[in-house]
Amino acid sequence: MAWKLDQSPKLGKLFVAPGNAGTANIAKNIPIGVNDFEAIKELVISEEIEMVIVGSEDPLVNGVHDFFLEDPELRHVSVIGPQKAAAELEGSKEFAKKFMIRHAIPTASYESFTADNLEHGFRFLESLNPPYVLKADGLAAGKGVLILNDLNEAKAELKTMLVDGKFGTASAIVVIEEFLAGIELSVFVLTDGKGYKVLPTAKDYKRIGAGDTGLNTGGMGAISPVPFADNDFMEKIHTRVVVPTIEGLKKDNLPYRGFIFIGLIKVGNDPFVIEYNVRLGDPETEVVVPRIKNDLVEVFQAVSNQTLNTIDLQLDDRTATTVMLVSGGYPESYEKEKEIKGVENVKDSLVFHAGTKFKDDKLVTAGGRVMAITSFGNDFKEALKKSYQNIEKIHFDKMNYRKDIGFDL
Ligand code: AMP
Ligand code: GLY
Repeated sequence: MAWKLDQSPKLGKLFVAPGNAGTANIAKNIPIGVNDFEAIKELVISEEIEMVIVGSEDPLVNGVHDFFLEDPELRHVSVIGPQKAAAELEGSKEFAKKFMIRHAIPTASYESFTADNLEHGFRFLESLNPPYVLKADGLAAGKGVLILNDLNEAKAELKTMLVDGKFGTASAIVVIEEFLAGIELSVFVLTDGKGYKVLPTAKDYKRIGAGDTGLNTGGMGAISPVPFADNDFMEKIHTRVVVPTIEGLKKDNLPYRGFIFIGLIKVGNDPFVIEYNVRLGDPETEVVVPRIKNDLVEVFQAVSNQTLNTIDLQLDDRTATTVMLVSGGYPESYEKEKEIKGVENVKDSLVFHAGTKFKDDKLVTAGGRVMAITSFGNDFKEALKKSYQNIEKIHFDKMNYRKDIGFDL
């Protein structure tokens, strides 16, 4: 997003908190945490910041937008991201399920349980066919969903989540839902609370290993648009999911100015909602944002002024793909501060930094997911070829990446 905002003639000055070595080249990095609202306030006032774009779910669920609205010194600042009440669409799986049922949005059938009705949870599991889908209600950094084939194992995990606090307070409530078999995709919507724009679709690859095996990660690569999301299927998503979601927010009086990330699964030829996120995704952003031709500052101003319907959204027809370079060992333990070499040799691809920093003027790794290499092509194969060719030029000790992004398409 910072890369895109930087291209706007309307941009005055850009700050990123906390930022990385990539954002350091185009913005001023500020070492404050996203949940430190007082520090954010201080920065916004001292630098006369006019717009705050919230990238991650945590501060939204914690009410950063409300914090700005409730403070006379901050009320004039535009905040992109929903208020706390609507951020519960991501903050609570149970809230999201109830929202979907209330507004007749297709989703897996479910029931939710607490430690007080564990026995009912066991009976419910017995009534289902495997695999069993158990979801911690609250935020669990993408780790709160368990899919299990064995009934006894599912019962044991349910108990661990509810009684032993496997995911802390996030698993005080557990949603158990029907397993849906199909292929996943994500649709991104931007709304100002009145109108909305449907942004490009994307598909991400969450597992660490080839063929979608091994542990879940934040995301190892992404493709946009999703080839199987043809006009017919998109129309179904639009009428059955996007419109009722936007209308549902209005009916429930949930103010929303920001992105809605709708995680979907295609069952037969029908879309079902797996989850809502109240932000863009990573690495989906690295393929969705480059395909938006509009000035992003202008688009965000329209969100803030509730004039999004006046924006003519222009998308790049080409396919964008991204491949994430990660530290060896990720998503389990890994070493940091490995020197990254060869980035300057990349041609015809975009390098988006994630866990990177400068140490004594050297570019080094600073996280599990290190950088995403995005390329354009006439189809995803052509785009991927460019990303993989450029990855050959980049090196750091124990660098790892998926060599089969798009394998299932
Ligand atoms: P979530 O955090 O809700 O997106 O769930 C994480 C992942 O679990 C999803 O991306 C799906 O791959 C899988 N998943 C979640 N719910 C279901 C379901 N009802 N049926 C099948 N797979 C699911
Ligand atoms: N890539 C998944 C997410 O951002 O939640």
